[in-house]
Amino acid sequence: MGFPEHRSRRTRRSDPMRRLTAETRLAVDDLVAPLFVKEGIDEPEPVGSMPGVVQHTQESLRKEVRALAGLGVPGVILFGVPARKDARGSSADDPDGVVQVALRALRDEVGDSLVLMADTCLDEYTDHGHCGLLDPNGEVDNDATLERYASIAIAQAAAGADVIAPSGMMDGQVAAIRAGLDDAGFSAAAILAYSAKYASALYGPFRDAAECAPQFGDRRGYQMQAANSREALEETALDIEQGADMVMVKPALAYLDIIAAVRTAFDVPVAAYHVSGEYAMVQAAAANGWIDGPAVMLEHLLSIRRAGADFVLTYAAREVAELLQ
Ligand code: PBG
Repeated sequence: MGFPEHRSRRTRRSDPMRRLTAETRLAVDDLVAPLFVKEGIDEPEPVGSMPGVVQHTQESLRKEVRALAGLGVPGVILFGVPARKDARGSSADDPDGVVQVALRALRDEVGDSLVLMADTCLDEYTDHGHCGLLDPNGEVDNDATLERYASIAIAQAAAGADVIAPSGMMDGQVAAIRAGLDDAGFSAAAILAYSAKYASALYGPFRDAAECAPQFGDRRGYQMQAANSREALEETALDIEQGADMVMVKPALAYLDIIAAVRTAFDVPVAAYHVSGEYAMVQAAAANGWIDGPAVMLEHLLSIRRAGADFVLTYAAREVAELLQ
């Protein structure tokens, strides 16, 4: 009596029975592919620490996005690697900046068949590699940075971005971007806020791909510390109050508790970012023959969904979309 000991066995007996009783599913519809586009290269450049990931040319990016749309992947998020960097990240909001050029071409290429997201930050564009403008003491100047973020968001929306995704963890960034977009006539552009973004060692490979490692110091002054969960809810609440349409937890697997807590506490769509280090670890172990890479990847992404994420940003989007066809 009590919990009937054979019940769960009976519902696990066969593949179709497991499919019928699955509480969570992973579908192509849940995937967003992060893509890097680099200025001034003729051929795509592989990222050594992220097997399968490249820095795209405009041309190879178009091809990749067309392939993703063909597989039914509903979204991509773009990161730019500019040819020139300076202290204020000037090319981030230049209409001819690498991401703006890409957005215009992709809008033409895929129409409305796919959601175009743009990461909105300065670290890829500044010569010091920090996510904001620096004050004379070398500290990130929060409020001066907000004006830059609003300007970048407007340039991205003007170039065709459907979703603006601020990742710099400046206070007030969502409100500043929302006001900037609305004033400039882009009230249809949505905001996906990186709300609970932790200062994580798992971003290492990304910094190779985006060529944006900080030249001094680190990001622990503005990104969250791994020890804390309550402030994740506070940060998320603030972003929603300021107008975030969707929120994100990042990284994903080491922060499943945060994803679950955010899911429970708020009703907006919740995204999770399965980040570069998480991807690289699976690829490295698989390349050594130590794990079954595709199976582990599917298990990771399904578990992120189970924790409560509505969709997942993952470098495995294309591979997984192919597996799920
Ligand atoms: C900042 C940004 C980072 C990532 C996404 N946006 C790097 C950072 O905060 O250092 C990391 C993503 C990943 O590791 O896959 N623009």
